Amino acid sequence: MQPVLVPEPENLNIQEMEKLVSSWFNDRPLPQSYIFPPETRPGNHTIPRCNSIPVVDLSKASGHDRTTIVQQILTASREFGFFQVVNHGVSENLVNDTMNVFKEFFELSAEDKAGVYSEDPKRPCRLYTSSPNYDRENVHLWRDNLRHPCHPLEECIKIWPQKPTRYRETVAAYSIEAKKLGLRILEFVSEGLGLSSGFFGDDLSESVILSVNHYPPCPDPSLTLGVPKHCDPNLLTILHQGDIYGLQVFKDGEWIGVEPMHNAFVVNIGLQLQIISNNMLKSAEHRAVTNSKVARTTAAFFISPVDDCIIEPVKSIINTDESPAYRAFSYKEFLLNYIPTTGNSEKSLEPFKLHA
Ligand code: OGA
Ligand code: NI
Repeated sequence: MQPVLVPEPENLNIQEMEKLVSSWFNDRPLPQSYIFPPETRPGNHTIPRCNSIPVVDLSKASGHDRTTIVQQILTASREFGFFQVVNHGVSENLVNDTMNVFKEFFELSAEDKAGVYSEDPKRPCRLYTSSPNYDRENVHLWRDNLRHPCHPLEECIKIWPQKPTRYRETVAAYSIEAKKLGLRILEFVSEGLGLSSGFFGDDLSESVILSVNHYPPCPDPSLTLGVPKHCDPNLLTILHQGDIYGLQVFKDGEWIGVEPMHNAFVVNIGLQLQIISNNMLKSAEHRAVTNSKVARTTAAFFISPVDDCIIEPVKSIINTDESPAYRAFSYKEFLLNYIPTTGNSEKSLEPFKLHA
């Protein structure tokens, strides 16, 4: 009798991993399945690349300028839903080390990445390509993604990648600092909204997911996208976009490019913060475009409510002549509805709106 050859799970992964954009982008023109419809593709027109999103200097926040910083953050969160922070207290060396470790991760051999690759969206730590919906989506996204939880750290770290060897140590240090920065910004936001100190602590911000995007050079950036137009579903996102351009924010019906700033983080208001603030703060739509020259690696740190956390507009900030714009719901319910809307903010908010 012939022995039956049962493929090892890792070998199976290696076959599936051929779907990763990073494994084939060099060999082919842009496949049809990556071409976005004309109305959503970036096209060839020039998008203004300016620093028109506000920049907040956090070094001023400790002294008598604190109120100014709180006001700057509040105004930026109301008008743009986006801002950059500089002098944020996270060491430049740590940020550089972390971004380098992420780049090295994507450069590992297929064998080294096989243990992390998974097409099962329920797996908490995984490398995959495009969106969690690869088999059902109309168009694939020009990106690979590594994603895992970061809290509680002692538990999560055990499921993180083991290669590069510095991964766990470096990313652990980074996630502690990024969470601290996020909570500090949330503290400014709560002060600006007149809420009690620590309002956004605990359940509202306890879940932290790190999402590392890798966008290889693309044969035709005008036809495809790394991440299509969306709002982040969570509370607050702290993004490090490395030093390569690609992030665009939709403001007043137009796209504006967010030029990378040295040693800065991009902060954006998630949909939960928009809801809790009863639409006072805005979660802005944004997307990532690709480029034809160099790979771009970005790290999004999603500060999110725990699944069973109840979200609703805070009563104390609603004026007497206004009513709450949303009903109460659990974050889990929100996420279940968010995924099929592919990030469309109107569609994902609709089931939770109260119509006056
Ligand atoms: C995201 C995102 C933008 C970027 O991951 O949600 O918006 O520039 N990323 O990678
Ligand atoms: Ni986003």
